[in-house]
Formats: sequence, C-alpha cells, structure tokens
Amino acid sequence: MNKFAAYRLLDRIITHTPQQTIDFGSRFAQRLGPADVIALSGNLGSGKTTCIRGICTGLQVTELITSPSFTLINEYHGRVPVFHFDFYRIQEPNELHDLGIADYFYGDGICLVEWPQVVETLLPAHHFRIQLYHANEKAFGRFSRQAGATDLQHTEAGENDRYKDGNRPRGAGQDDTATKFSPQDQRLIEAYQHDHTRD
Ligand SMILES: Nc1ncnc2c1ncn2[C@@H]1O[C@H](COP(=O)(O)OP(=O)(O)O)[C@@H](O)[C@H]1O
Ligand SMILES: [Mg+2]
Repeated sequence: MNKFAAYRLLDRIITHTPQQTIDFGSRFAQRLGPADVIALSGNLGSGKTTCIRGICTGLQVTELITSPSFTLINEYHGRVPVFHFDFYRIQEPNELHDLGIADYFYGDGICLVEWPQVVETLLPAHHFRIQLYHANEKAFGRFSRQAGATDLQHTEAGENDRYKDGNRPRGAGQDDTATKFSPQDQRLIEAYQHDHTRD
C-alpha cells in the first residue's frame, strides 16, 4: 500500500477464531455491489481465504469456497457473480496475459483478489483493501500496544483508545468467550477503501 494516504480506514478488528473472521467478511459484504474489487493482502495463512468465505456468505454464495491456487480464478454465483483470484504463484504480471484480468476488474461481478501485488496497476481507481496480520506479526504487536493492551488476549480497546482517524478499534473482546482462544489464532484485520480523489 504505497499510496497509503489515498486509503480511508473503514474497519479494524481483532478476531480470535476463523468464525469471527468469517463473520467480519460477511458483514463487510454488505458494503459491496456489482463491479467492486477487493484486494486481500497478508502472509500465507493470515486468513485471506477464510475472510473470503465470509464475504461470499454475505453475498449469498452457497458454493464451496476454495483457494484457486492452481486455476487462478474461481467463479461463484451469489447475489451477483463473484470472481475469486489467487495470484500467489504468479511472478510476472505478463503471466496473466491470457486471463483477461481487466475484463473481470471492470466487469459487473465482484472480484476478490488474494496476493494482489502483481495486478496492483490494474486495480480500478475505486477498490477496497483488506489487510490481514497474524498475531505474531510486528504490526499486530504495535496495534496491541496502541490499544493499551498488555497481552494479545486482551486487545479489546479501552474506552479512550482512538486511532488518528478518530476510529475506535473494535475487537472480538466483546465476546466473553474470546479469552479462551490462544494468541496464535488471533488476527488483526484492517479494511480500507481507496479514495482516488486523494491520490
Ligand atoms: N482468527 C482467525 N481468522 C482466520 N483464520 C484463522 C483464525 N484463527 C485460526 N485461523 C486458521 O488460519 C488459517 C487461515 O488460512 P487461510 O484463510 O487459507 O489463509 P490465507 O488465505 O491467507 O493463506 C485457517 O486454517 C484458519 O482455520
Ligand atoms: Mg488463501
């Protein structure tokens, strides 16, 4: 996210279980309509596909969601057509030449893109980003300190915690079962909307 200033934070949450990540995705899907593109970034196992399961649930997709690691693209049928990409194995944008990416990105379906780096320049001016971090990543530690937490089990923000943008971090700590889960399961999820007018 180089042009970070052009991204507006929509949501920031800590999840303690895959289901909470699915629930986040499902809620996030309420923002989405035809022609939206969502780039999901984060290390292997950070929860991109899990989050996409939630988004697809929110979009009324009933098909099985699996990562298209080899096929590059899966198509699902929700309240709008949904295209799920995984570019993990792609090194060069020109390897995607035959896929006609622009037709998808500028079409009427919703595009969900794992490992979007190779298509960064093809993303439409209006797009969403979801960034996922493992609990043990540096950024997560910073987040937990910002939130005034002493350990990752209690990262629910205090009453007075605010981010620069005035948003208050929302954690899964409202759920009183959350503290039962081990810290290595925790994920920090941030959702952004690209605001091309601030480029
Ligand atoms: N809070 C959480 N959110 C998402 N996934 C989690 C969480 N805790 C544990 N997991 C597990 O981590 C893994 C995430 O895998 P996946 O969604 O395929 O990641 P990615 O697509 O980023 O490689 C799954 O096995 C999931 O069950
Ligand atoms: Mg994946």
